[in-house]
Amino acid sequence: MSKNNKSERFLKLIGKHQERKKIEKFHGSLADYLKIVEQNTALVRLAHKRLYESIAAKGITKMKKSETRCNKLFNSEELKTYDYFQNKFFGMERSLAKIMRFLRSASLKGEESRQVLLLLGPVGAGKSALMEHIKTALEGCEPMYHIDGCPIREEPLHLIPRSLRKEFQELYDIRIEGDLCPVCRFRLKEEYENDYTAMPITQSSFSARGRRGVGVVPPMDANSQDVTILVGSEDISKLDLYAEDDPRVLSLNGAFNVGNRGIVEFVEVFKNEIEFLHTMITATQEKAVPSPGKGPMIYFDGVILAHCNEAEWNKFKSENTNEAILDRIVRVNVPYCLEVSEEVKIYQKLLGLSDFDGHIAPHTLEVASMFAVLSRLHPSNKVDALTKLKLYDGQDVIEKGTVKKIDINDLRDEARNEGMTGISTRFIMKAIDSSLSDSEKNMVTPISIRDALIKQVKDQIVVEDDRNRFLDFLGKTLHDEYLHILEKEITKAFVSAYDEQAEALFNNYLDHAEAYVNMTTVKDSVTNEEIQPDEKFMASIEEQIGITGTSRENFRVDITAFMFSKLRREEKVDWKSYAPLKEAIESKLTSSVKQISRIVTKSKSRDRKQQGKYNEMVQTLIKEYAYNEDSAEEVIKFAANNLWRDS
Ligand SMILES: Nc1ncnc2c1ncn2[C@@H]1O[C@H](COP(=O)(O)OP(=O)(O)OP(=O)(O)O)[C@@H](O)[C@H]1O
Ligand SMILES: [Mg+2]
Repeated sequence: MSKNNKSERFLKLIGKHQERKKIEKFHGSLADYLKIVEQNTALVRLAHKRLYESIAAKGITKMKKSETRCNKLFNSEELKTYDYFQNKFFGMERSLAKIMRFLRSASLKGEESRQVLLLLGPVGAGKSALMEHIKTALEGCEPMYHIDGCPIREEPLHLIPRSLRKEFQELYDIRIEGDLCPVCRFRLKEEYENDYTAMPITQSSFSARGRRGVGVVPPMDANSQDVTILVGSEDISKLDLYAEDDPRVLSLNGAFNVGNRGIVEFVEVFKNEIEFLHTMITATQEKAVPSPGKGPMIYFDGVILAHCNEAEWNKFKSENTNEAILDRIVRVNVPYCLEVSEEVKIYQKLLGLSDFDGHIAPHTLEVASMFAVLSRLHPSNKVDALTKLKLYDGQDVIEKGTVKKIDINDLRDEARNEGMTGISTRFIMKAIDSSLSDSEKNMVTPISIRDALIKQVKDQIVVEDDRNRFLDFLGKTLHDEYLHILEKEITKAFVSAYDEQAEALFNNYLDHAEAYVNMTTVKDSVTNEEIQPDEKFMASIEEQIGITGTSRENFRVDITAFMFSKLRREEKVDWKSYAPLKEAIESKLTSSVKQISRIVTKSKSRDRKQQGKYNEMVQTLIKEYAYNEDSAEEVIKFAANNLWRDS
């Protein structure tokens, strides 16, 4: 595309944008506004409702009970997920559901509408990102109507005098809350001779950057914090002109003024001195904030959101003078993600947002995510860390030929605060970056990320216990687990038509097991003869997962019953249907190519045939498993050095 062409296209976009901006904003009187309200009474809504509806309007999906995740991880509870957060936030469904429940109750004017929502979570758990996204929801919603020139953009219905509100409510079924701000009251008297129908009304959109309906309070140290940041100030230059209590001296530009009708966000809220936070109490409880100087309280309608990490929260909580505030806080924990597959999506998202252009070898993000999750899990007497990780990820864990039956809820119950400590997303991203910049081939592999993580843990984790635990995960647990994954992958690359072969083994096994259980015979596929079930063949599969002796019979009975019940429900069965058998089949296939894998990957002097086989495998890894030349070579070398060592 030529340069001109690009500019032309972009200028067109600018034109369109300007056109859209030009579409007349509403300007009218109270009478005009009333007509609009009559057409659409839903227009008049308080801040919580507006925010809730703008998020919910993007769609609410009920997690399907049949989905594995719902089934295994959410105990088949019908968890609602909000489309607005989909593909942006991962493994956070529970926190999001709590946040939305808060907003919903608040939108129905429950007690929550008089509370602060506090997001509590460890560093890098996504609190700030979540806040940003919630604020953006307001920017996307329809503009609010307000009194033109009002510094806090107040609801035009405030103009309606108290004495008429009862009738108004009867007619429109809308209850008016709040009274005119001092500035509007003054203007009404001085400029409009108390004719409230003459006050001008207009519309504005929400904008965080434009400080319209979104106020942000950054953490402040004791010296610089000043309540004017919250409630505005008196304009000193005007104090010469007007009396001290004249509303014309007011600059209502504090966070509560700016965030009126929208959101006021307190960043790292408990870094502030407690006195500073008292405004928060009145704002929630009385729905009013003090006016700067000596003026009366000013009506406030907004969602107050705050976030902080656990250390600050604990410190704050421990001081009993803070009770008044504590009582007005609804806390929602935002822990780290504990599902490996979801954690992987976080890094995919973050990498997608960066200029990162390197090659990421298969399983790299998986290994990094496994490390992150392992570091966050609490130890349990019931299972080892890796097993817990797999269970939390919805995977089947096979033990002694059956799927391990452990109630995830029990594991969760014994580890109440899980996810509030451990390695952060930022730590992992840094390791990905450094492993990439150390690479001469512009790539990251499971091997290089593990090295980078080890280095970073040694450099940065000072708590001895954590450090040792983390190094153990990286040095042993993940080393072994990755080799296991890799061995499977290499086998797949070796065995041509892997799935077909697995499927054939599966069908064959099933025929024999069924005949064994029912004491019948099997028809030989070649000779068509009726033959006895093949003990040797069945045992060769079963031994792969350690089933020997008398437990064989049980295994055969179990699997026959399982398949039968699946078929009866007309569900699809294939070699992956029954997890223990799947594992046995994979292992069988792996051992069937063990010799050749060892020779081909290892030998420095491959003969021609072996070289051919090697090339073929590399090509499969590249074409079917998304490696490139370099990463395929690296992982094969790693496999050669670490797998098949002593055979
Ligand atoms: N569960 C998650 N889903 C999607 N993205 C996430 C998740 N957790 C963290 N992130 C991403 O990680 C990055 C860091 O998160 P963020 O800065 O929001 O953390 P924070 O909780 O505010 O941390 P801090 O306490 O250090 O301020 C963000 O880009 C965020 O999008
Ligand atoms: Mg933050």
